[in-house]
Amino acid sequence: MLSPLPQQPEDQILRLIRLFAEDPRPGKIDLGVGVYRNAQGQTPVMRAVKAAERQLWDSQQTKSYTALTGDAEFHAAMSGLVLGDSVAADRIAAAASVGGTGALHTALELVRAANPQATIWLPDPTWPNHAPIAGHVGLARRSYRYFDAATGAADPAAMLEDLATAGPGDVVLLHGCCHNPTGADLALPDWQALAGLLARTGATPLIDLAYQGFGDGIEADAAGTRLLAAALPEVLVAASCSKNFGLYRERAGILLTVTPDAKSRGRVQQNLAALNRMNFSFPPDHGARLVGMILSDPDLRADWQEELDAMRAGIAALRRHLAAALRDRSGSDRFGFLAENRGMFSRLGASPDQVEALRRDHGIYMVGDSRMNIAGLTPQAVPRLAEAILAAGI
Ligand code: LMR
Repeated sequence: MLSPLPQQPEDQILRLIRLFAEDPRPGKIDLGVGVYRNAQGQTPVMRAVKAAERQLWDSQQTKSYTALTGDAEFHAAMSGLVLGDSVAADRIAAAASVGGTGALHTALELVRAANPQATIWLPDPTWPNHAPIAGHVGLARRSYRYFDAATGAADPAAMLEDLATAGPGDVVLLHGCCHNPTGADLALPDWQALAGLLARTGATPLIDLAYQGFGDGIEADAAGTRLLAAALPEVLVAASCSKNFGLYRERAGILLTVTPDAKSRGRVQQNLAALNRMNFSFPPDHGARLVGMILSDPDLRADWQEELDAMRAGIAALRRHLAAALRDRSGSDRFGFLAENRGMFSRLGASPDQVEALRRDHGIYMVGDSRMNIAGLTPQAVPRLAEAILAAGI
């Protein structure tokens, strides 16, 4: 029965984890998977998460089921964190999910249930898992131009030109902040123009918000999402708590759905519950509960925010440090975009052969499209990385 199953291609990001683990060289540098690391190269459990876990251990009386769409405190806390007061609470349907990826999956299933003919528009480039999930759900896909490789910045004019042909009932996938893989984000006027275009075409945005807090700050990183939520009748947001709460393996995420009015909210909420029930019944609770506790306790929240702010400042400093090291050694400004990009990722602009040479000759691991996880660097590794990049002829 199972013999017709095809061989599956290895995921390029997960492949790097394996290759890195197998590499015996002591000075190897992992700029692959998008996981935050501190100056000691560790991915710590955040202080507020530890404190909330202690409280939960003391106070939790049962691990019986919650609700099909998860805990109401988590919904309210995440709606506030992501959407602020951009939209009335009675227009927001929400479902806790299996991480941010699970929220994307549920969002696309919801789209398919509402309109099986929908086309999903993906930015070029985008996270390598977006297109496979859309394909798996059975939605037609198209891509739109997003990135200008010559400048290392977003290309909003090209984006708006391509998206002008999206139709009503289509879905446009956007990165809320810290674009993965380029770190090239839209400015607020671009979001404003996008809101106008989406209102004209009738296409619905699906925002992947996996790095809130890693770009310019918790509020600033949600500004584009909030602008669309305030301007449009329907917005889908797949938010992840993996990175900004460091809860990667707990799989805490949420799908927030802005609906046109309170009446449609009820129907969407029922559909979200039905999708969860068919996929996995109840969503994971532990990570979501910790997030709800942290965001609703002023002390825990302040400590979380302080630690997140320090993580963001560390990444920004590494960006400036690397751009300066490359400028000093190359005598050119062509890597200046590294300091301008936001979040964990930038695309170096190297060929696959150069990426391979970095791995083979220098033990430096990045994704084949030359995406680097800047948060994988330590200050001590910056000079060596800069020298290797130039030695590889990039
Ligand atoms: C990444 O892009 O590296 C992260 O989102 C981790 C993943 O699952 O790919």
